[in-house]
Amino acid sequence: MNISFEAQKTLKRIIAELNLSHLKPKQKSDFLTRIEQGFEPLFTQLFPLYGERYDLHFHLATLFQAFADFSTKRRPAKIKDSDPNWIKSNKNVGIAVYVDQIADDLSSLIDKVPYFKELGVNYVHLMPLYLAPEGNSDGGYAISDYRTVSPNLGTNKDLKELAAALHKNGIRMVLDFVFNHTSDEHEWALEAKKGNLEYQDYYYFMSGQEANEFNQTVREIFPQVRRGSFTYMPEMDQHVWTTFNSFQWDLNYKNPAVFVAVVEEMLHLILNGCDVLRLDALAFVWKEKWTVCENLTKAHNLIKAFKACLDIAAPEVVFKSEAIVHPDEVNKYIGSDECTLSYNPLVMALLWESLATRKTPLLYSSMERSFTIPNDTAWINYIRCHDDIGWLWDDEVSGRLGINGYDHRLFLNQFYTGQFEGSFAAGVPFQANPTTGDCRVCGTLASLVGVESAINSGNELLLEHALRRIKLLNGINFALPGIPLLYQGDDLGVLNDDTYLQDPDKKEDSRWVQRKKLTESDFTMALDASTPQGKIAQLVRGMIKVRQENTIFAADEFELIHLNSEHLFGFIRKTDDQRLLTIANFSEHPIFLDGPLSRYLHCNQAKDLITNEVVDLPNLNIIEPLAVHWFIN
Ligand code: GLC
Ligand code: GLC
Repeated sequence: MNISFEAQKTLKRIIAELNLSHLKPKQKSDFLTRIEQGFEPLFTQLFPLYGERYDLHFHLATLFQAFADFSTKRRPAKIKDSDPNWIKSNKNVGIAVYVDQIADDLSSLIDKVPYFKELGVNYVHLMPLYLAPEGNSDGGYAISDYRTVSPNLGTNKDLKELAAALHKNGIRMVLDFVFNHTSDEHEWALEAKKGNLEYQDYYYFMSGQEANEFNQTVREIFPQVRRGSFTYMPEMDQHVWTTFNSFQWDLNYKNPAVFVAVVEEMLHLILNGCDVLRLDALAFVWKEKWTVCENLTKAHNLIKAFKACLDIAAPEVVFKSEAIVHPDEVNKYIGSDECTLSYNPLVMALLWESLATRKTPLLYSSMERSFTIPNDTAWINYIRCHDDIGWLWDDEVSGRLGINGYDHRLFLNQFYTGQFEGSFAAGVPFQANPTTGDCRVCGTLASLVGVESAINSGNELLLEHALRRIKLLNGINFALPGIPLLYQGDDLGVLNDDTYLQDPDKKEDSRWVQRKKLTESDFTMALDASTPQGKIAQLVRGMIKVRQENTIFAADEFELIHLNSEHLFGFIRKTDDQRLLTIANFSEHPIFLDGPLSRYLHCNQAKDLITNEVVDLPNLNIIEPLAVHWFIN
């Protein structure tokens, strides 16, 4: 079949059916130009998914009418910086925050704009803020209505005002696009429960036997919540697909009506004024019997189809992929026709692995395999987030280094949950799987690097080490190519918070240990440089400032450098006339260099941007315990 020809033919038919009478002449001509450009890329992705469906044409017509209507809608004032290449800028520093944990609600969050500015943040991810079930809503990731802000947080108008305030201050707004599932209280789910067949087809309902067949090959994500991936609905005598919690129903994208309906919800999210949409749990969106139902080829067709819709409706908005899966699969979501940005869960996990082992070979080998991505895309580099840490590296890579993947994950889980003698970390386990022995780790940055245990033991040296680890991790995270993303409170040295254990809706989900409501005292303590929190706040701010003042942090050219010790890690960023060498020592011992660093910087004197000291490279023989440097020529 000649897809290009078929696309042209279909588009002509669709245009003839559209009602464009409410579009002003300029809106209409812009709209037609955009759909003429955007139709074929969309059709090319939808055809493999729905080419066999008798009703595809109807759904396409509905979709394009939605685009036409959308083109007449007003959005909050856009951000002034219209540089399409903004993702590469050294000015970029992000933070992820819960509206009601960093402030009280959306309107009081406007008062935090000066704090973001002072910190140097220009990208704010607002954790899910839409209508969700009372009680447990998986931190808002169970959405009951994409078009309504949760009343606890304010109104849609408040959200638009916040977007305008952020934009006025040069800050981009990131919202979640939770499109793998809705809550069981979403209107579609309520209709399905009532027996409405049209809406039952929005989800995966099946018999116990069929669910059981799927369970043979599908990974369990929350094994402590429930075994398998299905929830039995007694009133329907059916099993519904629930990858996550039982109240999060997976959407059935085999039904083209679901695709169109979800695009319409996506357009509503964009009307709030967001600049980036975070594609939540995108690996799970396509399912086929006897497969793992993650990262399937058709999941990519589907995401590319969403991207083609985005390019038609709001080309300045970009997608960020949240694929916390095998590194090879993470990379497949990244591309100019799919997700422009992606979390970097591999480097995140391996930085923690290197801290525990004090060794960097697995970090190097994994980055060599997976760090390079297309030039028009960027990593979102992070150290901690609202979720758990999963140990997702490639076992063949670790195997080549003589590391048994299974055993090593067991070790890391024990290390970070304080079950390993001598560990500095105070993390908590998350979702231990009784069958596989697998588990993940939660905790704040400060607690995981040892600040908490050092404070408890009153040991100054341990505290010093813990603070150095924070500097080291940030020193790498702020210097790697990509956008560094902070997690709320980690810039303030916030420790684990156990109060979730008192809340029946939260106590089973240890991720709440790192989701503390920030208090006035958290912010003021960070101003006092004599406290560990104040030291952390100062060093984070200092590094952000340096990053934003030096365009070398935007350099495209990147190279890992191999040093003589397995405790060291180093890389350079370079332009034609400048080089930045980041070098870190993951051990608590000084490490001797086997030769001068001049060979990487092509000069004898370098400035360490972190301390502002000029260093004579030929005389620099050791890297101090847990030290990190930013040497620039
Ligand atoms: C993503 C979110 C996580 C949530 C899950 C289900 O992984 O980050 O918090 O539990 O999706 O929506
Ligand atoms: C799934 C998601 C991951 C998240 C986790 C929630 O594995 O892919 O992002 O961390 O669920 O704990």
